[in-house]
Amino acid sequence: MDRRRFLKTSGISLMATKLASDAVAATEEPKRKAVSDAFRLLSAPVLLNVAPDRVSVLIAVSAHATGWVEFGETEALGKRSDGEVGGMRPLHNRILRFDITGLKPGKGYFYRIRVCPVIFSNAYRISRGTPVASELFSFRTLNPSAATASFTCWNDTHENRPTLSALTDLLQRNPTDFLVWNGDITNDIHREEQLVGQFIDPAGKPFAASTPLFLGRGNHDVRGRDARHLAEMMTGPDGRYYYAFRQGPLACLVMDTGEDKPDELPVYAGLNNYAAYRTEQARWLADVIKQPWFRKAAFRVAFLHIPLLWEAELPANWATVWGAGIKGWICEDGHQKWHDLLCKGNVDAVISGHTHRHAWFAPRRGRPYAQLIGGGPAADNAIAITGHATSKQLQIDLQNLEGKVVESHLFRRK
Ligand SMILES: [Fe+2]
Ligand SMILES: [Fe+2]
Repeated sequence: MDRRRFLKTSGISLMATKLASDAVAATEEPKRKAVSDAFRLLSAPVLLNVAPDRVSVLIAVSAHATGWVEFGETEALGKRSDGEVGGMRPLHNRILRFDITGLKPGKGYFYRIRVCPVIFSNAYRISRGTPVASELFSFRTLNPSAATASFTCWNDTHENRPTLSALTDLLQRNPTDFLVWNGDITNDIHREEQLVGQFIDPAGKPFAASTPLFLGRGNHDVRGRDARHLAEMMTGPDGRYYYAFRQGPLACLVMDTGEDKPDELPVYAGLNNYAAYRTEQARWLADVIKQPWFRKAAFRVAFLHIPLLWEAELPANWATVWGAGIKGWICEDGHQKWHDLLCKGNVDAVISGHTHRHAWFAPRRGRPYAQLIGGGPAADNAIAITGHATSKQLQIDLQNLEGKVVESHLFRRK
């Protein structure tokens, strides 16, 4: 064999051997590697961003894992979502997310997540362990044509587990169509590893496994070195923190007030541009309020963390809490950019938190919407806000952690 022919043949032969070994590696049953017995689910499922036809479900895991959701209209389930994105089924060491689509409006569904630990040694050495199942839960999709709508709103829970546990118990006793977590969920997001405890398992028990969650960011949730990682795990619909949706007679806006001090403050080192972000939201709001599904709702409520106004005497320490000359208890820029649109859009109430002191500013001439503010993280001033709407009236109650209604406000259809 001449040298040239030898090189050509041996090249082909080497390549063929490599391809053959790849084929074997890819088709042979991977050797079962002991997957740690310590693998476990670190949370109950969290339902996120429910819509008439879809919902996302998240669950926290202790190590690399994949999984799927079984769901159906009866406890027999029968359907399955593998949560694949771009052909890839989930594989993550912290959070798995599954989008369930093709659902029917206002319909009840049962579901269970099955999670399977995965040891990923290399591209062709991947071992699956024994699947672990969540409990069976149920939820209901939104329905724009429903006769009624109900919501629960929490704010400023600030990682206070006893408060979160009590709020969760209240919600379990009186479930609503959805839950809005209206900001200051955290005491800043310093490290990415904190996110599971902060957002997925805040109370050590299921809190959004049956009542779907909508997320609104507060100033503490946009603060901290790893705050930008939140968007990898949890956002509102379409990857944003400002969005709108309709449930029966109620149209809801969730908006993002951002930080509570000016962007140009040296402490932020030039990393913030919430002024532009609020302008972007004003453009979006101008469009939403023109849409028939929004205009035709019997009631309209905006959830946004920092109140747009405070029309009462200021507590003595507030003038110094945020720094001289900074009115950090309100979002002045948001007020300037959104107030006229909220009036034009016939919004009935803006529901906020942030001040850790509940307050009510009734609608008045020049401001046709009410400004309602929830409580703080401590057990003695935490507040669960609930809303119940029909086509004729919207009742908003403020409850303390014992479930006692401390304030009630009734809105008639305008
Ligand atoms: Fe707060
Ligand atoms: Fe706040």
